[in-house]
Amino acid sequence: MPARGYEIIGTGHHVPGEPVPNDRLARVMDTSDEWIFKRSGIRQRHYAGEGEGASDLGTKAARRAIEAARIDPAEIDYIVLATMTPDYVFPGSAALVGANLGIPGVPALDIRQQCGAMLFGYQIVDGLMKSGAARTVLFVGAEAHAGFMPWEDWDVVTGDATREVTAEARARADAHRSLAVLFGDGAGALVFRATDREAGLVKMKIHTDGRHAKALYVPGGGFRTRPYWKKDMFDEQAHIPRMDGRELFKFAVTKLPQAARAVCEEAGVGLGDVDLFLAHQANDRINEYVREQLGAPRERMPMNIDRFGNTSAGTVPILIDEVTRSGLLQKGQLNMILALGAGVHWGAALVRW
Ligand SMILES: CC(C)(COP(=O)(O)OP(=O)(O)OC[C@H]1O[C@@H](n2cnc3c(N)ncnc32)[C@H](O)[C@@H]1OP(=O)(O)O)[C@@H](O)C(=O)NCCC(=O)NCCS
Repeated sequence: MPARGYEIIGTGHHVPGEPVPNDRLARVMDTSDEWIFKRSGIRQRHYAGEGEGASDLGTKAARRAIEAARIDPAEIDYIVLATMTPDYVFPGSAALVGANLGIPGVPALDIRQQCGAMLFGYQIVDGLMKSGAARTVLFVGAEAHAGFMPWEDWDVVTGDATREVTAEARARADAHRSLAVLFGDGAGALVFRATDREAGLVKMKIHTDGRHAKALYVPGGGFRTRPYWKKDMFDEQAHIPRMDGRELFKFAVTKLPQAARAVCEEAGVGLGDVDLFLAHQANDRINEYVREQLGAPRERMPMNIDRFGNTSAGTVPILIDEVTRSGLLQKGQLNMILALGAGVHWGAALVRW
């Protein structure tokens, strides 16, 4: 029997290791705490360790969410996992999380919408619940970006080493500094369950414009080439994403307010009816601009980019976990999820909590 509604009954998140403050990055490239904080609002981030994948971070977050939901993992009947930094080219990391949780046989779907994942994830959960295909769904957003950071001197960045890095290594990292300072690792997980209450997705406006795919993409390691990894890829730094930061910035500050207004209009509600704006955290300045455009007071758009940086698909579920545990997020609220990610995928969703 399809559910009348569905709600989040448990949340969790996990970030690996110790926080890495901005001045640590200044040891391996030409940057500063002042520049990073002023341009992005970021003070620190976390990095996955060598050998630690998105599935490991996602499993830890999922265990916390399952514990908070007070359910047995066996009650989960579908897993949806979002990551742009999977453990392997294939299979996807969702299957690995299912195995780690000890629930083999449960269908596990990977989605690839990068920082826009929570929106698309919500729509999938909505479909699963409303079709009656699932009653308890685990959503996980997890990222291990450390593998594309443009330095090799991890002992200087995350360890105790205080040596100078070579001029060559510094120059290599400098070429990617605007990207490297933004991203951090972590995972968030949400347990959704069918309910008789009218809760869940109210309205959604999502979009994709692949004409801008190269505004943020990884040029190397794809199956357009034979073989799909080439020896000279590393010399060309082709494993490191290329990002047009300005283009994405402009895209976000234009499209997100438009999507927010459009979804409210379709739902027949005003922006003032929205309790919380749960926005992806790519840059503090982007969210500040969007918030001002929407006329929302600061306390209605919770932020955590200062502590985690941009954790891509991990961001919105981590934020949801934090505001759930702090009590800011409450049952019955009308909240808006806002996100934009490489693809470009973006949009806004109104959710009755
Ligand atoms: C990347 C971003 C922080 C750059 O901020 P910006 O204000 O646009 O900065 P610019 O790129 O114009 O660079 C300004 C200067 O700072 C320098 N700079 C870039 N990165 C730097 C860093 N990490 N440290 C110090 N200086 C840096 C640039 O080289 C440039 O120097 P110049 O003026 O001498 O040429 C910003 O564009 C952004 O956040 N874009 C969105 C990215 C995004 O959302 N990505 C994820 C999408 S989900």
